[in-house]
Amino acid sequence: MIFETQHLTKKFGGLTATSDVSLQIEKGELVSIIGPNGAGKTTLFNLLTGHIKPDEGKVYFQGREITGLPPHAISRMGIGRSFQRLNIFPRLTTFENVQVAVFSAQGKSHQLFTSAKKMVRKETETILESVGLLGKKDTKGGLLAHGDQKRLELGIALSVHPSLLLLDEPTQGMSPQETVETTVLIQKLVKERGLTLIFVEHDMSVVFGISDNIRVLHQGKVIFSGKPEEVRRNEEVQRIYLGEENK
Ligand SMILES: Nc1ncnc2c1ncn2[C@@H]1O[C@H](COP(=O)(O)OP(=O)(O)O)[C@@H](O)[C@H]1O
Ligand SMILES: [Mg+2]
Repeated sequence: MIFETQHLTKKFGGLTATSDVSLQIEKGELVSIIGPNGAGKTTLFNLLTGHIKPDEGKVYFQGREITGLPPHAISRMGIGRSFQRLNIFPRLTTFENVQVAVFSAQGKSHQLFTSAKKMVRKETETILESVGLLGKKDTKGGLLAHGDQKRLELGIALSVHPSLLLLDEPTQGMSPQETVETTVLIQKLVKERGLTLIFVEHDMSVVFGISDNIRVLHQGKVIFSGKPEEVRRNEEVQRIYLGEENK
């Protein structure tokens, strides 16, 4: 097991956004987290990456407890994350956006020897290539098309050499064509880099297309856990979530 949570709970005032969530994720698994808006998916990610602290419960990564550690410490251990809201620097170029992330992942300042600078450049180019953005490396982040901005986010998440990747709605706002391309890209990255993936996704074709396992969140609780075909067949899930999608 690469990743585990035990009884994670987070309250915002009177609202329990995450309620007693226990997850066990195996190395190499592709797991999606689905659930209606407000189910607590992003809050759960924030608990996993140290952006907020749980009221109760524990998080373990590769056998080490990481509960309550700050985000930079968690990401340097090899947990990469992309955000639901875009988190890029619009005035920096595509190249610079990834370069900043690579510098920061390595804990290095910009005052580097030439040899180290070369390595960062190489690493940045490798990442840009793997997310299909090398040809747009000089375009400012803010001027990229939405789909490219989301792919840039993905590239930034790769800068920590993750073994676990957490993607919060990686295809949000994309056209059907971009969604398919991004799904293929994610699958390729997971395979090439031997990643474990946990992703939040609304598009059911993506969810059913690439998940090994699915967790269904509702009002902060995991109400169902199973393989895609089991989720499809489950009546409660259909009522709570899949039915709503079709409204
Ligand atoms: N920082 C916060 N302060 C107060 N309430 C929050 C905060 N973050 C999220 N919430 C609430 O927690 C619930 C879950 O939100 P969220 O995790 O963003 O859901 P999802 O990502 O599944 O749409 C929602 O009711 C939301 O309004
Ligand atoms: Mg969310």
